[in-house]
Order: sequence, then C-alpha cells, then structure tokens
Amino acid sequence: MSDEAPLPESLPAHVAANRAAWDEYAADYVAAGEREWRVQPGHETWGVFGLPEADLRLLPDNLAGLDAIELGCGTGYVSAWMTRRGARVVGIDNSPRQLETAHRLQTEHGLDFPLILGNAEAVPYPDASFDFAISEYGAVLWADPLVWVPEAARLLRPGGRLHVLTNSYLSFLTGPDEPDAPNGDTLVRPWFGPRQMVWKGETSVEFHLPPADWIQLFRANGFEIEELLEPPVPAEATTRYVYATGAWASQWPVETIWKVRKRS
Ligand SMILES: C[S@@+](CC[C@H](N)C(=O)[O-])C[C@H]1O[C@@H](n2cnc3c(N)ncnc32)[C@H](O)[C@@H]1O
Repeated sequence: MSDEAPLPESLPAHVAANRAAWDEYAADYVAAGEREWRVQPGHETWGVFGLPEADLRLLPDNLAGLDAIELGCGTGYVSAWMTRRGARVVGIDNSPRQLETAHRLQTEHGLDFPLILGNAEAVPYPDASFDFAISEYGAVLWADPLVWVPEAARLLRPGGRLHVLTNSYLSFLTGPDEPDAPNGDTLVRPWFGPRQMVWKGETSVEFHLPPADWIQLFRANGFEIEELLEPPVPAEATTRYVYATGAWASQWPVETIWKVRKRS
C-alpha cells in the first residue's frame, strides 16, 4: 500500500485541473476548517447552511470500531469528527494544500489518522477495507461518479454504508453561469445536459447528475438506497456561499443527501 501521489501528468484531466484549482482555493478554506475541527461530538453540522447532525444523521449511530474513509476530506474536519466518535479513519484528498491544513490541525488537536494525497477514483486500499464512506462536497462533487462510485463499492464491505452530501440538481440547473451570483427561479441549463460543469471564470471541474442517474448508478454498483434527503432551511438562514440564499433554500432544496448501503 502506498501513500505516494501519482505524478500530475498521470492524472485524468479533470483530476489534474481540480488539484491545481483546490490548491488555489485552499487558503479560503482554512478558517472554516479551523472552526469545524473545534466541533465536538453531538454538535456537528453539515453543508452550506450548517444543518445539525441530529436532523440529518449523516454519521452512523455508532462509529466505534468501524473503519471509515472520507473521500475528498479537504481540511479533514469530518474525519476528525469520526475519529472522535471512535472510528478508525482514513482521509483522502487530491489537494496537497488542503492536506497541509489538515496535517496542521491534526497536530493542534492531537488527533492522528492517515491522510492520503490521492484521487478518490483510485484509492490505494484493498477491496472491502471499510465499513463506512462519506463525502461532503468532496469526491461526490469533484470526481467522476462513473469512476468513484464503483471505487467506493469496491472499498466497502458488504453491508457498508456510503453517505454523500452535494448540491441539489435543482440548484445546479438554476445557478447562473457567472460566479458568485445567487440561484434564480428559472432553469438556465437543461436537465439532460452535460454532466461535467466548469463555471465561467473557473478551471475546476464539477459533476452533477440528475436523481434518476444517481439511482441507476448506485444500484448498478451493488448499493441499495436507504434515504434521499433534500432539506428545506429557514428563510432567515445565512451562508458565506453567495449562490445559496435563505430565501431560495426555504423554497427549493439547495442540497441533496444520499444514504446508500452495499448489498450483503
Ligand atoms: C469542499 S472540499 C470538501 C471538504 C469539506 N467537507 C468541505 O466542505 O470543505 C472539496 C475537496 O475535494 C477534494 N477533491 C477534489 N477532487 C478530488 C478527487 N478526485 N479525489 C479526492 N479529493 C478530491 C478537493 O481537493 C477538496 O479538498
């Protein structure tokens, strides 16, 4: 097993583009990472509006003794939360700069778990290594679902769970091309459009699938769907992300959560 990262030139084009982009974005994620690392068990919150774990239940009830992996761990706070709840955790991320922050925060908080620099589409662990896999806006948004979903299925043991949180498809379809513009109330791109998205002025590559495609993909890779959540938020809710306003998110789902389980 190796924690060596492949050379950038051997990475798929979207992975190389996202490595360069996330190394640039990383500085903007330090403060949030520092804040989230301080969160103690029972107080975790999720997504752009910080919705409580008590409502979303993205973490299994009992993580003690489970092998867990975070696919696209960024600054590593979800991995830290899982470690504090007793899991044996591995975080993998494609950005050296994001992992620099994660390593520093590990030292500051006295928590130690493997942080792998790599692509969640090709994880250097044997088949059936994990009981639980999670991605909050990590691989679920930035890696190719046709590659990372089969890879997650390979990594999980029978009965293992995969939980992901990403932009809702409606949020994607109503987001103006311009960066930092709020979602509108009309569809600005087709439902049956390209699944890859590079926003105007950006170089990073995102992946957005309609719900029917997610269902088909999960089932084709041996997963049963346990839950689909698209939670409303209060109109007065705020977030640092300009595309999502409380007014919009109280009417339409900004985020989608899939909870799936590998068939035994
Ligand atoms: C928004 S952060 C997710 C971390 C954290 N949950 C958060 O919301 O800030 C997205 C992370 O996904 C990572 N990422 C993008 N593509 C990846 C890939 N193919 N494999 C692993 N990580 C990837 C990026 O480097 C980045 O750190």
